Amino acid sequence: ARRSLLVGFGGFLPDRVVTNDELAAQLDTSDDWIKTRTGITRRHIAGPNDTATSMGAQAARRALDYAGLTPADIDAVIVGTSTPDQAFPATAVRIQAELGMQQGFGFDLAAACSGFIFALSTADAFIRSGQARNVLVIGSEVYSRIVDWSDRGTCVLFGDGAGAVVLSGTDEPGEAGLLSTHLHSDGTAGDLLYVDGAVGRREMSGHLKMSGRDVFRHAVAKLSSSVDEALKAEGLEYGDVSWLVPHQANIRIIEGVAKKLNLPPERVVITVDRHANTSAASIPLALDEAVRDGRIQKGDLVLMEALGGGLTWGSALARF
Ligand code: ACO
Repeated sequence: ARRSLLVGFGGFLPDRVVTNDELAAQLDTSDDWIKTRTGITRRHIAGPNDTATSMGAQAARRALDYAGLTPADIDAVIVGTSTPDQAFPATAVRIQAELGMQQGFGFDLAAACSGFIFALSTADAFIRSGQARNVLVIGSEVYSRIVDWSDRGTCVLFGDGAGAVVLSGTDEPGEAGLLSTHLHSDGTAGDLLYVDGAVGRREMSGHLKMSGRDVFRHAVAKLSSSVDEALKAEGLEYGDVSWLVPHQANIRIIEGVAKKLNLPPERVVITVDRHANTSAASIPLALDEAVRDGRIQKGDLVLMEALGGGLTWGSALARF
């Protein structure tokens, strides 16, 4: 049967780096508080010209280069984002234009921090059905524009950036490829983490709001079951996982899942210390780092997982 190979990886981070100490100069917080509770030491923050479109297009170019493909080879662009430049056209369609593409199709998908897993799953379904052969899967976010910079409980947690993966269909037999993806959402927990308004509700603040403790509790439980679900679906065990590439929200959530899997820290790809939480961009940014620096090797089994506002959550298993 046809399956999807992960053939290209790219990332983009805005130039400006903001340390915890810089935040502590303006807010009642400290480097120590942020580091101990979250693992975050710094984050990249978008400049005036950085948008979900511009950053996503940069990450996409790098992923195409890695894959040895050009925009003309791409049949679909799927962008996970909660921070599009405009209500429409979709970020994906703007990125198509930036890449000089007039063929294929693109659309955005809103699943908050789980956006990359949802986009990966959607792209895989297009490939398996034969509707697309090469798909650009992008997560691109500018949370610096939706956080309330006077709320120390949330603004310290997030950063900006974009990551991209090229998925490519193959009919050749082989072990490598995306093995399975598992998606969930539950709107009854929607008020634990949300953005207050959007272009359809302009009278609201437009700021991100969060009940941190409750999100934490849901994250550990739901990510653990999502990881079990993925392995069980493939008849695999904890010991088979070579790398955990988690959504990067908080080091303590990541360590909770790694501990459950019995994975030593050196088998977990961590970027949250330097990137903070880049929402839908965090997993493709982490993949890009770990593939390019040689940690993730051909044949490795990679487990990805994420949870975000919705609540949405899910996992993906891939053989590299
Ligand atoms: N600096 C200093 N003090 C702070 C800060 C800050 N930046 N933020 C909150 N505090 C204070 C609070 O006011 C509170 O003070 P009080 O005891 O006097 O009332 C105290 O610190 C403890 O606050 P809590 O919110 O209970 O702190 P907690 O230990 O739960 O840590 C955190 C907060 C880090 C947000 C944690 O709940 C968490 O990681 N939750 C997961 C949420 C998350 O990661 N969300 C990201 C988006 S969802 C996702 O991507 C999975």
